[in-house]
Amino acid sequence: MSSGEFLTLFLWIHWLLTCCSGALATTEPSKTSPTTLKKTDFNSIESKFSLRTLEEPDDDTCYLVPGQEHTVDQCNFNHTSKTFVVIHGWTVTGMFESWVPKLVDALYKREPDSNVIVVDWLTRAQQHYPVSAEYTQLVGQDVASFIDWMDDTIQYPIDNIHILGYSLGAHAAGVAGSLTNKKVNRITGLDPAGPTFEYAENAIILSPDDAEFVDVLHTYTRGSPDRSIGIQKPVGHIDIYPNGGSFQPGCNLGEALRLIAEKGFGDVDQLVKCSHERSIHLFIDSLLYEEKPSMAYRCNSKEAFEKGLCLSCRKNRCNTLGYKVNKVRGKRSTKMYLKTRAQMPFKVFHYQVKVHFFAKKNLTVTDQPFLVSLYGTQGESVNMPITIPEISTNKTYSYLIYTELDIGDLLMLKIKWEKDSYFSWSDWFTAYLFNIQKIRVKSGEFQKKLVFCSKEGNFASLQRGKEPVVFVKCNEHAKKKQE
Ligand SMILES: *[C@@H]1O[C@H](CO)[C@@H](O)[C@H](O)[C@H]1NC(C)=O
Ligand SMILES: *[C@@H]1O[C@H](CO)[C@@H](O)[C@H](O)[C@H]1NC(C)=O
Ligand SMILES: *[C@@H]1O[C@H](CO)[C@@H](O)[C@H](O)[C@H]1NC(C)=O
Repeated sequence: MSSGEFLTLFLWIHWLLTCCSGALATTEPSKTSPTTLKKTDFNSIESKFSLRTLEEPDDDTCYLVPGQEHTVDQCNFNHTSKTFVVIHGWTVTGMFESWVPKLVDALYKREPDSNVIVVDWLTRAQQHYPVSAEYTQLVGQDVASFIDWMDDTIQYPIDNIHILGYSLGAHAAGVAGSLTNKKVNRITGLDPAGPTFEYAENAIILSPDDAEFVDVLHTYTRGSPDRSIGIQKPVGHIDIYPNGGSFQPGCNLGEALRLIAEKGFGDVDQLVKCSHERSIHLFIDSLLYEEKPSMAYRCNSKEAFEKGLCLSCRKNRCNTLGYKVNKVRGKRSTKMYLKTRAQMPFKVFHYQVKVHFFAKKNLTVTDQPFLVSLYGTQGESVNMPITIPEISTNKTYSYLIYTELDIGDLLMLKIKWEKDSYFSWSDWFTAYLFNIQKIRVKSGEFQKKLVFCSKEGNFASLQRGKEPVVFVKCNEHAKKKQE
């Protein structure tokens, strides 16, 4: 069992223990359409709307109360600037999780004049999971009533509202968006919850018609549909699956154990949600590191992306992850992919490497370890380990590699074929050798294509366990030859 599977299992045991004893009878989502329940006895609103401040991002110092107009001025709500509405998810402790003030703080740092409102539905969010999941409809109604009230009484333009919902909060945001008199500007779904929602009707989950623009980050979709923590299917105009969406780097068991050793078991809950919560930190990253925007690329499948086949930016095929997303609305949801680092800043630089292998003798090898080094005008990224699934004589392959550093314009490329860790008799009889004439490299971030030629001659011979082969830009290579 891999560490990721372990964590998923762990989380499910955790959920079963805390959530479902005796409550399973109520798991079916209500069949009542939320519209029929709507409005507008303000007394029935249970959710609270806290206007947070940059000075005290983790304190509820002032609530906007629907029906009580004076609270708007009391809280120093800025009528002319935009408003963020943050909706949290399910909670074991009944308290705000530590990401809430972090997100509030990042929103204010990026948009100092904005209003950041945190929706407090903690009481309903603290129930057995299926109960809380159903409450998202009521929370959505509360938020919609609140927004319509802002529109009706102080003529606050709904077009200035951006709702951010995490986990169950993403579906609450969707319900809210579907009920408001006019459409809100944007809803960002941060790893919308999966269980009980994967197959639910659009009215009770986040969907593209809930706002002018809906963007979604999927970060913890490992497992079978409806069992995975995050919803697997696309639910917005743009659905981004960082690192394939199933699991995030830095969230493995080793990391978890290290954190437990450091911080004790108190934070286990936080650890288990590492990949789930990564969606929020990716968004925070996009707010704080304006100069390091992560790029995502449209692709039909995770597998094609892993081969580096989807690094094009033509016709909106690439987009910026997070706050500065380019609001492209297609007829259908657009699935996009990218790799990230394990911590902030998350940005990496993607490259497609295309290689034709040739040799006199036929040879096919699988799962071979290679070390790739890239050298550029601004830096280098050396000995990046990659495992190549298959190489066969006289075939062309495409791979995705990525660097954490911006190395500038690529100048040189080095490849080393490592020996398998175990000793094999076949090494004595087989010549593990492939020749390479050219390597084509395409960069996603810079949208540049380059061709590299062997530094030594017409072609380079890549041999298992031997010296690395070196490639330089072809034209320079030609120039040198002339000198
Ligand atoms: C309200 O926001 C606007 C920008 O949208 C800004 O110019 C103004 O100073 C803000 N007002 C207050 C009282 O902060
Ligand atoms: C691969 O292609 C080259 C050139 O087309 C040819 O000379 C060589 O014999 C081929 N190798 C095999 C194993 O067929
Ligand atoms: C290599 O394999 C290909 C296809 O499997 C075959 O057509 C070719 O003749 C082989 N070449 C040699 C040199 O064995």
